[in-house]
Amino acid sequence: MKAVDKLTSAEAEKELDKLARDIAEHDRRYHAEDAPTISDADYDALRRRNAGIEAKFPLLVRADSPSHRVGAKASERFAKVTHRLPMLSLDNAFSDEDVADFLGRVRRFLGLQDEDEIAVTAEPKIDGLSASLRYENGVFVQGATRGDGQEGEDVTANLKTISDIPLRLKGKPPAVLEVRGEVYMTHKAFEALNKRQEKDGKPVYANPRNSAAGSVRQLDPSITASRALNFFAYTWGEISELPAKTQSGMLEKFQSYGFVVNPLVKRCETLEQVLKFYRDIESKRARLGYDIDGVVYKVDRLDLQDRLGFVSRSPRWATAHKFPAEQAETVLEDIEIQVGRTGKLAPVARLKPVTVGGVVVQNATLHNEDQIARLDARIGDTVIIQRAGDVIPQVVKVLLEQRPRSARPYKFPDRCPICHSHAVREVDEKTGKQDVDRRCTGGLICDAQTVERLKYFVARDAFDIEGLGGTMIELFHARGLLKEPADIFALTEKPDKVSKVLAEHRAALSEERRAAEGKEPVKAAKKAADKEDKVVANLMAGIEARRTIGLDRLINALGIRHVGETTARLLARHYRSIAGLLDGTKAENAREELESIEGIGGVVAEAIHDFFAEPHNVKALARLLTWLTVTDMAAPLKTSPVSGKTVVFTGTLEKMTRQEAKARAESLGAKVSGSVSAKTDIVVAGPGAGSKLKDAQKHGVEVMDEDAWLALIG
Ligand code: IVH
Repeated sequence: MKAVDKLTSAEAEKELDKLARDIAEHDRRYHAEDAPTISDADYDALRRRNAGIEAKFPLLVRADSPSHRVGAKASERFAKVTHRLPMLSLDNAFSDEDVADFLGRVRRFLGLQDEDEIAVTAEPKIDGLSASLRYENGVFVQGATRGDGQEGEDVTANLKTISDIPLRLKGKPPAVLEVRGEVYMTHKAFEALNKRQEKDGKPVYANPRNSAAGSVRQLDPSITASRALNFFAYTWGEISELPAKTQSGMLEKFQSYGFVVNPLVKRCETLEQVLKFYRDIESKRARLGYDIDGVVYKVDRLDLQDRLGFVSRSPRWATAHKFPAEQAETVLEDIEIQVGRTGKLAPVARLKPVTVGGVVVQNATLHNEDQIARLDARIGDTVIIQRAGDVIPQVVKVLLEQRPRSARPYKFPDRCPICHSHAVREVDEKTGKQDVDRRCTGGLICDAQTVERLKYFVARDAFDIEGLGGTMIELFHARGLLKEPADIFALTEKPDKVSKVLAEHRAALSEERRAAEGKEPVKAAKKAADKEDKVVANLMAGIEARRTIGLDRLINALGIRHVGETTARLLARHYRSIAGLLDGTKAENAREELESIEGIGGVVAEAIHDFFAEPHNVKALARLLTWLTVTDMAAPLKTSPVSGKTVVFTGTLEKMTRQEAKARAESLGAKVSGSVSAKTDIVVAGPGAGSKLKDAQKHGVEVMDEDAWLALIG
């Protein structure tokens, strides 16, 4: 990177533009998606670089400069708190049908009829920052942010300054009580704060949510104290005993202990009541005085919540009905194609920068070729883009009446822009339908796919290798050092080669710079040598540190189509060890077994099956495994009489639905399978059981009826 004082003004302008874009994107990933893709240190470096250039070129400071917005990025400043119970997220509903589906799913899971009442609480979804407050014997002892749901930041001192958060509880609260809720800032407080910031020449906040987050993450609690913050209590974490039997009852209790509960919360008994509540709240939204981004519905009865349980990180018993997304108008300046790790050609709209709901947007997805045709999007068109909280902005409409004469139709490429292989739309054999995505057929020879797969492999949710970022992967790949994951670990055996490649890269960059400035080339490599040593040492340590890896992370890193973090965890939980996974996926009944895993459907099962059926995948994995120690997935914490056992349900169950039986067994650590083999431990047979019961007898497997099963699991 060029030193700031060597930049020409044109270069500075260009770089500030790029930094504004990149930082906004990282902020979005961090704040909106809760899924940052760079380390805190790298992020801070970007902001510092931006500030450095702005200081040197004050006339070039952009209106949308990142330094005008306080990102309030979490850093290593606060101590970490491991949540005793994870802080979960919510599934989303975007339409009335989605809400009806949610209630339908709950009914089906519980085996209820359409006419059976299922009461839910409807609560405004507060747009702030969630926090968990721990009380022991009625005294506030620790407050934490959500963080990644497993681990947050200890912000006790700051939360103590918020007057809605009692330091000592009233009444008779449980001995251990973690109350969870939302810290937020009212519109009035937000405007006053920004006025003050402006007057003091300090950066203003983009929206109340950011300012609440920024205020809670102040290192100095007296600053937090000077900010008017509020708190609504809406759920709980660890609790020594439940003081009520319903969500609405719990909220009443919270209130009696001294918490503030949102006054609009309502218990609803029918879909009609729920939807009416939603519309009421939507019409009041602008006058509430604080930001909300939807309505949350929760099954009221806690015993039913308990039976419903969780799928991955969200409860089956709740959903968030979101308000429609925010939109803005801008100009489509260009369309570029990005080739992903699965070969998908993704059209990205390059836009004239525009602010949507407090975030500067410069790129948006156009999804695929059909979408471009459907919208009739042309380069130069004025378009409407939409951003809904946590999803990537998208182009939703073209304003045809504003189309300039110069607007240029876009021809979607039929070859991969990187490896020039044909890019095709697969046809589904069964349905005869064409896939919406065009994919590069280059597979292993496509450099874009190879590089994207490697980047995915080292990313945060996967191997999370410190010191090995996207640029380095591209460089090592270009220089023939990296082709597949195993090669990353092989780097540790060639530090000299790595060092040489890095030094040459740096020298080439500075040559380029000298050439651009019209100077004579010099041998610059020497000076950089010391620095290189450190970079190489860090990289080697970063790789070395990941030679022991959890099974779930390893599976996610493989980049199997349709398999992300959640499915990877399901697979790891099911197969438990790498040996279990390899054996299980090559077994004769592999497909069936995959489909029997709760949360894995037919398409995903097929993709996983295909991956392990492909010899070159298995070989590449074997090469990778020579470098690794893979830790087994721990059995669930609850040890139960059935943990580790393989169970098959057959026939009619009378006390619960098949889905509930399966979810319950899995939460107790059992493996539920669809077919009986010698490896089956228990067959639970209800009336009408047929061939599976016979198989059980053949293999000498223990058979019990539903009552015996329920007695066994308690
Ligand atoms: S309940 C297990 N209730 O929404 C359910 N969450 O997407 C845990 N939120 O991280 C959350 N208002 O920050 C719940 N009335 C409400 C809420 C609410 C806002 C936020 C919360 C959570 C996110 C989930």
